Amino acid sequence: MDTRLLQPNTAGIDEAARLLQAGQLVAIPTETVYGLAANALDGAAVASIFAAKDRPVDNPLIVHIADEQDWAPLVTHIPENAKKLAAAYWPGPLTMILPAADCVPPEVTGGLTTVAVRFPAHPVAQAVILRAGCPLAAPSANRSGSPSPTNAARVTEDMQGRIAAILDGGDCAVGVESTVLDLCHTPPRLLRPGGITPEMLEEVVGPIEIDPAVTGALLEGAVAASPGMKYKHYAPKAEIHIVKGTPSAYAEYVNAHADPGVMALCFDEDTAALSVPAVTYGGRQEPLEQAQQLFDALRQLDEHGAATVYAACPQPTGVGLAVYNRLLRAAAFRVINTVRIVGLTGPTGAGKTTVTDTWRAMGAYIIDTDRLARQVVEPGSPCLTELVNDFSGAILTPTGELDRAELARRAFSSPESTARLNAITHPAILELTRKHLDIAADSGYGVAVVDAPLLFEAGFDTLCHHIVAVIAPADARLARIMQRDGIPEETARRRMAAQQPDAYYCREGVSVLCNDTDENSLRQRATALWEQRTRWWSAE
Ligand code: TXA
Ligand code: MG
Repeated sequence: MDTRLLQPNTAGIDEAARLLQAGQLVAIPTETVYGLAANALDGAAVASIFAAKDRPVDNPLIVHIADEQDWAPLVTHIPENAKKLAAAYWPGPLTMILPAADCVPPEVTGGLTTVAVRFPAHPVAQAVILRAGCPLAAPSANRSGSPSPTNAARVTEDMQGRIAAILDGGDCAVGVESTVLDLCHTPPRLLRPGGITPEMLEEVVGPIEIDPAVTGALLEGAVAASPGMKYKHYAPKAEIHIVKGTPSAYAEYVNAHADPGVMALCFDEDTAALSVPAVTYGGRQEPLEQAQQLFDALRQLDEHGAATVYAACPQPTGVGLAVYNRLLRAAAFRVINTVRIVGLTGPTGAGKTTVTDTWRAMGAYIIDTDRLARQVVEPGSPCLTELVNDFSGAILTPTGELDRAELARRAFSSPESTARLNAITHPAILELTRKHLDIAADSGYGVAVVDAPLLFEAGFDTLCHHIVAVIAPADARLARIMQRDGIPEETARRRMAAQQPDAYYCREGVSVLCNDTDENSLRQRATALWEQRTRWWSAE
């Protein structure tokens, strides 16, 4: 088949419309990415899209309209929220999942009872839809698995000889595919982030739910809310690794791995500090530029023959969430976090809080695992359910919260039951800790402190680049615990007796802060220690 290149003038638009009416495929520009269009009401034409793209047939397509009157026939019902969103953001990069009417062929819906509808903002897309006189089903115009095309040349690379024509409308303004929001779900559920951000959606419809697949890998065996999320996506030939961290930590990491075949996918500001060839995708603080340039940058990396790519990580908020979502898939979920992790441990009452307060003021991100330990057993959490299964409903208060005293009584009655408690809670705390390390990296912190009384018992020590222990004489700890927690001497002594001796914390390689004078000197010692922190990892 000869694929013709059409210009976005009246003749080109007329010809595109004529081909579409005749059941042919035409790639058209939209404000997000190029779409591979067919008459949405012609099942046979729609079926040929899947063949041209090598797309799995159970992955449904978006139906594009160019007049707000035109969605009524495609759906059985338009929820109030959908009307509000259409008024606010159509035409534009927002796709709504709605209950499908019978006229929508199963080739479009992939057999689902719902249909995805979008009113694109691109004037050429609108002109073609209106001229063809039918809604157009259109996925992104790439071969399945490749980055979506954001200009006509990239469409040609993938589709030459496979489709009737490509309508050249220049570069796409948004650069990542539309936001997909499921309105058949309460609250509305974000299936794919895009140019219309979660904040913009919530402004109109109130709280929305973000599908876990947006920022994470689909778990083995889980059913995808949006079938598209389960397929390999945006994957260049190179192996991409996302590197989270400060600009200098990113450069340091890349330069330490500057082997032949290694390239950087970075922000404009990063190139000067890098010793490997780089492709850029916008400014570090410019998510709109990043979105616009990402897919083309991924294709450029292949053209350069990159074998391994270290990608600077976008800030995953606003439009950046869409950029991060696409890059994460291109990287097959390989993420390297460069944040340095300092473990802080020691017995109760020794002064850990004074140390974390001091270091927080000096620019550290503090992760308080005691707080995370309370968070993982909140009502409704999987951990609390497991604890009830194991230790019985007697560990719940009448209002369904965890009765800590009762759990402690049961769990600490024998080493076996203590081990069971830890086996349930420690992995959940560790997972939350990792999330916080990601937040630390995304927020520009270079060092995070994991404050964990049970650092060694919970296995957090293996996570750390360096460990600091705070210890104090027993009488000073006793006085501090009694005052801090308002408890009698006997209770405080019992608590202390359950703890490990100082020698347990002061292991080889651990820096020890001894709190044996007053709070002020502990602060000074903590400050002095923190100022030497680069020595802790310079030997690595
Ligand atoms: O910006 C865009 O949306 C572009 C342009 C061409 O409009 N189109 C696009 O289409 O990205 P495509 O096919 O590459 O992605 C459509 C996504 C897929 O992840 C698909 O699984 C999902 O929307 N989808 C379509 N219909 C659905 C439905 N009924 N329920 C859930 N997800 C659906
Ligand atoms: Mg696609």
